[in-house]
Amino acid sequence: MKSAEVRQEFLNFFEAKAHTILPSAPMVIKDDPTLMFTNAGMNQFKPYFLGNQNSKNNRIANTQKCLRVSGKHNDLEEVGIDTYHHTFFEMLGNWSFGDYFKKEAIEWAWELLTEVYKINPDKIYVTIFEGDPAEKLEKDTEASDFWKSLIPRERVLLGNKKDNFWEMGDQGPCGPCSEIHIDLRSEEEKAKISGADLVNQDHPQVIEVWNLVFIEFNRKANGSLESLPQKHVDTGMGFERLCMVLQGKTSNYDTDVFTPLIKEIE
Ligand code: GLY
Repeated sequence: MKSAEVRQEFLNFFEAKAHTILPSAPMVIKDDPTLMFTNAGMNQFKPYFLGNQNSKNNRIANTQKCLRVSGKHNDLEEVGIDTYHHTFFEMLGNWSFGDYFKKEAIEWAWELLTEVYKINPDKIYVTIFEGDPAEKLEKDTEASDFWKSLIPRERVLLGNKKDNFWEMGDQGPCGPCSEIHIDLRSEEEKAKISGADLVNQDHPQVIEVWNLVFIEFNRKANGSLESLPQKHVDTGMGFERLCMVLQGKTSNYDTDVFTPLIKEIE
């Protein structure tokens, strides 16, 4: 499958689920001094998450050019030391503003990956937030139960606040998240060590592809968490990583996939 088709399949899938497709936002978001550059697909929708503005459409999907050089989720330290972190990349995302929540977000992600992209379900692991008593945040048993209705329970793993509580920056919309990881290793390698032990361990072939964020809070400037009046969905899937998975490649530096992609971005 060509990268352009991978992108189009994503947009078609969510359009069929009643999402409006919007263009990528500029790299610098106007009127938001909390961010230097667009670091996630959800940035342009911040006012909708916070309830400061109402979206004309409560379901949106798009593909967003992102740059991660600053802020809480700053991947700059990761670039160059593994095979899957980029500073500049494209993020496929779907959003619900006070409309659907965990059930649909999880079921649709599963449907898209396994039925449309036909990724072998046996290669997939997911993580859910284990909770954080210091912030009075509970374990996300709801997301866990939805996943367990789709995949074997031993593939549903607990993740800590660093990996499973997503925040846009030091301030702003945030919430527990559920990540989807793919184990691209050979059967021989899998027999030696389970993929479950390699999730979030910086293994070059066991990588996160999609993050489903359940936005429920606003992180205030004083560090406290405030519950939002409505619950929202914010997902982000690494386009280049997805292309790598669908090509069956184990390195981001495969020129067959990335040269055309770089040309498209230019
Ligand atoms: N906004 C979700 C993510 O960037 O992972």
